[in-house]
Amino acid sequence: MIALNEIYKQYDMGPTIVTALGGVSLHIEAGEYIAIMGPSGSGKSTLMNIIGCLDTPDSGSYFLAGEEVSDLTRDELSEVRNRHVGFVFQTFNVLARATALENVELPLVYRGTGARRRRSMAAEMLSRVGLDDRMDHLPTELSGGQRQRVAIARALVGNPSVILADEPTGALDTTTGEEIMALFEELNAEGVTVVLVTHDFDLAMRARRMVRLLDGLVDGGRSDAERCAQAQDLGHAAKQLRAEHTAYADLEAPR
Ligand SMILES: Nc1ncnc2c1ncn2[C@@H]1O[C@H](COP(=O)(O)OP(=O)(O)OP(=O)(O)O)[C@@H](O)[C@H]1O
Ligand SMILES: [Mg+2]
Repeated sequence: MIALNEIYKQYDMGPTIVTALGGVSLHIEAGEYIAIMGPSGSGKSTLMNIIGCLDTPDSGSYFLAGEEVSDLTRDELSEVRNRHVGFVFQTFNVLARATALENVELPLVYRGTGARRRRSMAAEMLSRVGLDDRMDHLPTELSGGQRQRVAIARALVGNPSVILADEPTGALDTTTGEEIMALFEELNAEGVTVVLVTHDFDLAMRARRMVRLLDGLVDGGRSDAERCAQAQDLGHAAKQLRAEHTAYADLEAPR
């Protein structure tokens, strides 16, 4: 479903260059539920943006649903994104001046779905997330959890094969966060691939696989060649230490 190979992403910040991703390789099968963890600044959101076709890597290859997307144009990318991906962010990215229903209709507008069908699909998705009685509310007239559910309904309305959630419960209380997690689990059980970024270890444990990012790299994701080289270095260092130790022992030995 998702195949990332040696993905690099750098940001040129004048005198310094920030390496957000330094060669990430990651394969995610269709129907997987995977959690991505890692300290702040380790590249999680950068990776999610690339997976979700919001951004492109500087180098490396990326296949989404069998299609090479690493060097598509902006328009082609948004087309792929619209077809395959549902994005849920930490801060419920909903349009402030649009009602819940209009917010959920939006991806279908981009797809060119007719107004009638759009309305009924959006309404169905909103009731699925338990908001049948809030369709005409503006985001300011909703609680945080309800707003996030609008964002999730919007992510889901186009039937994406992948849901990307970047800290989706970060701004929610535990109970509401729990509802959102239950919704993801339900979707995953129906076959939707779920990629979840979280700082919460308990939430990550519920995924079927966990990946840690550290300084723009998948932790433990070094190649066998690198591991071999490191082992040889260690072996060499150990030999040297032993030699020094013997030399000292000789010096200290009573004569
Ligand atoms: N648009 C940008 N311009 C310059 N540097 C950026 C940009 N976006 C991210 N970075 C840098 O790239 C690195 C990775 O950032 P990223 O947002 O992917 O981290 P993260 O793991 O999502 O962190 P957090 O847990 O705090 O959300 C950071 O050092 C960040 O400062
Ligand atoms: Mg982030």
